[in-house]
Amino acid sequence: MTIQIKSPEDIEKMRIAGRLAAEVLDFITPHVKPGVSTEALDRLCHDFMVKVQKAVPAPLNYAPPGYQPYPKSICTSINHQVCHGIPGEKQLKHGDIVNIDITVIKDGYHGDTSRMFCVGEPSIQARRLCEITYECMWLGIETVKAGAHLGDIGAAIQKHAESHGYSVVREFCGHGIGRKFHEEPQVLHYGRPGTGITLQSGMIFTIEPMINAGKPAIRELSDGWTIVTKDHSLSAQWEHTVLVTDTGHQVLTLSAGAPARPAPAS
Ligand code: MF3
Ligand code: CO
Ligand code: CO
Repeated sequence: MTIQIKSPEDIEKMRIAGRLAAEVLDFITPHVKPGVSTEALDRLCHDFMVKVQKAVPAPLNYAPPGYQPYPKSICTSINHQVCHGIPGEKQLKHGDIVNIDITVIKDGYHGDTSRMFCVGEPSIQARRLCEITYECMWLGIETVKAGAHLGDIGAAIQKHAESHGYSVVREFCGHGIGRKFHEEPQVLHYGRPGTGITLQSGMIFTIEPMINAGKPAIRELSDGWTIVTKDHSLSAQWEHTVLVTDTGHQVLTLSAGAPARPAPAS
């Protein structure tokens, strides 16, 4: 129940796992188009992880306490789906927004990252939600340095989301990550500055805000995994795996195709 400080050897392996997870997103990007089923995206990613990267898709058969084993290798969450959407026969259509969440295990270490994708040209409101959620994630990341507090991350995210009339999902959070998929600490995406544990160099955790266009309430579908907004409003999420350093942070899930960090607000 303590937060692990990663050794230099751990960190090198986490860098590799993180880069691989991001490269799966790069690989799948050209396939995210109207008419493709989320099952087809799952198969493409699965084969890329297993055959090309020689990595293990962490979601497949993942079964935390109280859950059925997750049946697929990636998560695909469309429109009002918040997270943990299970790939299936349903095809993406023009105007959808979809989160693809990739977690790979390489050499025993996990890398976890997700991005939003626009299918065709979604509404201005849908694209705006994706953009603001991306900014939320980065504003959270930018608070990270040794000596900062866990609550600083959530506070930055909540402030930005709510200033745009959006709401932050409370039930799911970022997490420590390493040899285990989900470790301590829990990284809330809301909160107050200066609260929570003090960050130390060598901690590694994810920041993965889920932001709803409407109310924050969610519910779980009968498949036991898929989370949707109760009011059916659109939801967006982005995720990076982040290392705490003495001077700040390093994002471990970057790749050639990762979207640029947003320009600083003026
Ligand atoms: N990748 C998700 C996260 O960011 C967890 C998915 S669990 C699964 O924490 F079983 F649905 F894959
Ligand atoms: Co995660
Ligand atoms: Co994830």
